[in-house]
Amino acid sequence: MPFSTIPGEVGAIRMSTPAFRGMMTQDGMLHFCAYRIYGASAMSYEGPVIDLSDRIDDRAEADHEFRLHRSIFEDPDIYDAELEFCFERVWNFLCHESQVPNPGDYYAAHIGNQPVFVHRQEDGSVKVFLNACSHRGAIITPFKQGNAKTLTCRFHGWSYKCSGECIGIKNEQGGYGVEFDCSHYDLAEIAHVGEYRGFIFGALYEDVPTLDGHLGEAKFFIDLFADQSPDGMEMVAGSQTYVCDHDWKVQADNVTDGYHVSTVHRNFMNTILAREAREKTEGLLKTEVGRIKGGVKNGMYYLGNGHMCIWADRSSPGGAPLAPATERIENEFDEIKAHWMLRRGRNIIVFPNLVLNDLASTHLRIHRPLGPGKCEVTIWCIAPKGEPDEARFARLRKFEDFFLVSGLSTSDDVVSLDTAQEGFHGAEAGWNNYDRGLSTMCAGPDEEAKKAGINPELHCDSWDYEAAFVGWYRHWRKLVEEGTKAAGTRIGAE
Ligand code: FES
Ligand SMILES: [Fe+2]
Repeated sequence: MPFSTIPGEVGAIRMSTPAFRGMMTQDGMLHFCAYRIYGASAMSYEGPVIDLSDRIDDRAEADHEFRLHRSIFEDPDIYDAELEFCFERVWNFLCHESQVPNPGDYYAAHIGNQPVFVHRQEDGSVKVFLNACSHRGAIITPFKQGNAKTLTCRFHGWSYKCSGECIGIKNEQGGYGVEFDCSHYDLAEIAHVGEYRGFIFGALYEDVPTLDGHLGEAKFFIDLFADQSPDGMEMVAGSQTYVCDHDWKVQADNVTDGYHVSTVHRNFMNTILAREAREKTEGLLKTEVGRIKGGVKNGMYYLGNGHMCIWADRSSPGGAPLAPATERIENEFDEIKAHWMLRRGRNIIVFPNLVLNDLASTHLRIHRPLGPGKCEVTIWCIAPKGEPDEARFARLRKFEDFFLVSGLSTSDDVVSLDTAQEGFHGAEAGWNNYDRGLSTMCAGPDEEAKKAGINPELHCDSWDYEAAFVGWYRHWRKLVEEGTKAAGTRIGAE
């Protein structure tokens, strides 16, 4: 049967409702979490073949028009299809290497709805298992993050080695027949684990492209993060998880929506400007507002494979937390790359679930669907290892200023997106418009991309235009339509 996982019992926790509970992890930090959901288990899509031709009005090149019918953000069949074909059958970001640095370190994550965990092996390699006990399915990891050479299920006490091997059955003697063999109960390992510059990805099933092929042009932007310290990057301890009353696609397309910034974040800008004037803030603690006010060079790319990016030059590069590393970066990298690292802010989404943000601070964020019109977001500050205390302090304060449920801007974003989702119920209103700037949309790289040696599929010359969404929703459409068609063929053959 097709399934939709609408977590009705847990209810919507809006940003204005401080109903978060904490989850202690072994790093001693309290990770705030609205709730934990362990959703429906995996099963192959058995819904209808989905044809989106009457829900996507795609005349971007011909007429500079691109519209999406609002039902795509609420339809349970579409949700079921995208859960499988946009998440569970593609590479997903799972965690950063700094979250599992030592043998035995584990980190629990999800691929779509499926719980998995990353476990660092004795030899330093990484394996990823379904986070489900072979006995009767209980989640295996005691915490979201921790260290364990063996994991013992808290339900009936079966235990597993770091390698996934089942090594202990409570009261095995006498309880099972002679034919019982615990080696048949090793943890299920996912098909692919890959790592790029410290970012660990996983794919549940065999049939995916190489990770290198999947990341494609997004690798340039991941490099801009990974190269910020000769010692690599680290996730700063602590995170927040919050649940939003909007569809994961709405959350995802906000990442490269520069158009909303000057309205939704005007309060942020005015508050920060007033505070900085009052406190006479200078140096690293000064927040750039040039991007919000406009007037700096900027642009947007659709990078292919569902990855997209917006960028803008920094109005005051001396205030960026990486500024103290200017001399090293200029010596180590060519002029173009150093410019992107030091003087150009960026927001990028690596399809389907990873967001890398390098603007006033730096953060890494993931989102996952919880049902049609509902998603969960988790956010961390990511920072260069070994940076000066002054830079780390400024990075964290600016991260807290804008982001997190207690920040000045995440709440504004979430409320705006929630209200959009609410508006989608107005069925007669019909269509979302993504026409902005489409007359400037061009295939291939612009001059800035050519200089950097990257090859986006689409570009336009303003980050408050909407061209990247054309590529992104075409990719989404391809996955949904081709996936459901293939599933229909499979079901027909059965
Ligand atoms: S569910 Fe894990 S031991 Fe029973
Ligand atoms: Fe925003």
